[in-house]
Amino acid sequence: MNEKTTYEIMKNRELLKGYHGTDVGAEPTDQAQKLPSISCLKDRKEASAIPLPTEFQKLPITTNLWDLIGRRESRRKYNDERLSLLELSFLLWASQGVRKMAGHKNPVTFRNVPSAGSRHPLDTYLFVNQVEGLSKGIYHYLPQDHTLEVWEARGDYDEELTRALCGQTFASSAPVLFVWSAIPYRTEWRYSLKAAKYILLDAGHACENLYLACESLGLGTCAIGAYDQDSLDELLGFEPGPSSEKDYECAVYAASVGKLS
Ligand SMILES: Cc1cc2nc3c(=O)[nH]c(=O)nc-3n(C[C@H](O)[C@H](O)[C@H](O)COP(=O)(O)O)c2cc1C
Repeated sequence: MNEKTTYEIMKNRELLKGYHGTDVGAEPTDQAQKLPSISCLKDRKEASAIPLPTEFQKLPITTNLWDLIGRRESRRKYNDERLSLLELSFLLWASQGVRKMAGHKNPVTFRNVPSAGSRHPLDTYLFVNQVEGLSKGIYHYLPQDHTLEVWEARGDYDEELTRALCGQTFASSAPVLFVWSAIPYRTEWRYSLKAAKYILLDAGHACENLYLACESLGLGTCAIGAYDQDSLDELLGFEPGPSSEKDYECAVYAASVGKLS
């Protein structure tokens, strides 16, 4: 390893401890300075929303946790059967669904996954290929009312998406690809330099719930960490970084989902 790589590795190791050394950021957090926070919920981009069904009792769900944990694995072979909207709805509920909201201005959400300080820095985007009732396109999940909105109506992203996923066609052609983005300031407002670590831990919780929810429905999923940051961000319309803007957003994790062949 050359000197530059070694230096960057050392910095990344410090990130695992939740800070970058002791001499930087020696100031109170923005929350402690009484600066305004930002919402953990994005405003709806379009007036119309696609309601998601919630009659989860109709799904043939396996509820034996012992079995689910014991059977969970990454599954990459999907058939071309469509997911039902109810199945997709369940996966969104399990990975980011809101149970409770508190407060009026910038309400705090309590969701089905834990998040450091309940700051919930993640948003969920879907590249939909085969889901009953949804045209091919890019969608955004609105956890506040458990609905979807069309993020990009275009369905011509196959090649770009495959490139963005470093050639992983099983994922780009999956019935659905989940992409979790982070809006870091949601968490930085409270945790400053510790935020980056917490955000990535939060993403792990979302994905693990997706694994267990898929397992419970007999669906296959595979976590995706190998992607080209700039290409995936561009596909989702995020401004390229680095940036100190409070609404800065970037993809942090993804997962393919499909029916098993
Ligand atoms: C952070 C993370 C990133 C991953 N990225 C990829 C990926 O890009 N492509 C892939 O095929 N699998 C990916 N995986 C799945 C792992 O390869 C898989 O979890 C591992 O081989 C163990 O297999 P199992 O999940 O079936 O137990 C990733 C898993 C994690 C946790």
